[in-house]
Amino acid sequence: MKNKIKKFAVLGHPISHSLSPQIHSLFAKEFSIDLEYQKFDVNQDNFLENIKRLEGEGYDGLNITLPLKNNAFQICDEVSERASLCKSVNTIIFSDNKIFGDSTDGKGLVSDLKNKNINIKNKSILLVGAGGAANAVIYDLVQGKPKQILLSNRTFIKAIEMKDYWEKFSDKHKVIIKPIDLKYSHKINFDLIINATSSSITSNDSPVTADIFNFLNIKGVCYDMMYGAETPFMKCASKKTDAVYNGLGMLIEQAAVSFNIWHQVKPTTIKVGELLKSL
Ligand code: ATR
Repeated sequence: MKNKIKKFAVLGHPISHSLSPQIHSLFAKEFSIDLEYQKFDVNQDNFLENIKRLEGEGYDGLNITLPLKNNAFQICDEVSERASLCKSVNTIIFSDNKIFGDSTDGKGLVSDLKNKNINIKNKSILLVGAGGAANAVIYDLVQGKPKQILLSNRTFIKAIEMKDYWEKFSDKHKVIIKPIDLKYSHKINFDLIINATSSSITSNDSPVTADIFNFLNIKGVCYDMMYGAETPFMKCASKKTDAVYNGLGMLIEQAAVSFNIWHQVKPTTIKVGELLKSL
């Protein structure tokens, strides 16, 4: 008897640009897995009814993207420790009439940094942003044992709140986390600047001013978690260093972790970026 085709989808708003269907189809080919992967434009108001509908239609799992990762966290029956701390779910499994949730963004970021030979151990990281995206990756950044993670945010109080929230976890891993107000900080240096803000969606300005890139160490790296067109952050960083990356590698790696959760196999990711360009 032929196996039932497994059904998956990504939910978010906007969603038309999502590359997840192509990425999961490429992964599936490697293992000759028969799957269907759709994308659905869903917002916060109709999120729960769509989850129930897709569960009823026999979907096996879902990816959840912006702006719904916290909503997804809230509707799960069970979540991983990582998702629980990050308050973010981007991967759902429907099983035994229950909804299980996990968060794969942080693992995706750290794997992509490794692929690019960017070592974070004992390094100084500036994490820009204190919203859902930053909170979704800090768990895995801390586990990579950097020396320190400095938290900067347009609304400074949110950087302070983020530090307060993560302090116990980072203390346990012997990693310093500190909020930093870049306007008043001069004797600083970073090995890695990560843009985890959504600023490029609404603004033509970099969320950190050009002078901040002067504090980048030699061999320092700038990473924008957004993918697609070059962002203002990347443009600004490129004036100081050639080591500037977007989040396409992270997108592929977080998808690989989701794929592993659903199918218990680890897809080869290394050529997927190139293959996506040729589709
Ligand atoms: P998400 O959960 O998707 O990360 P969010 O919680 O609204 O969304 O957070 C978005 C992040 O991008 C925040 O850190 C936000 O800064 P504020 O806390 O000051 O709002 C940041 N951000 C958005 N637009 C920005 C801009 N134009 N310049 C700088 N930071 C910006």
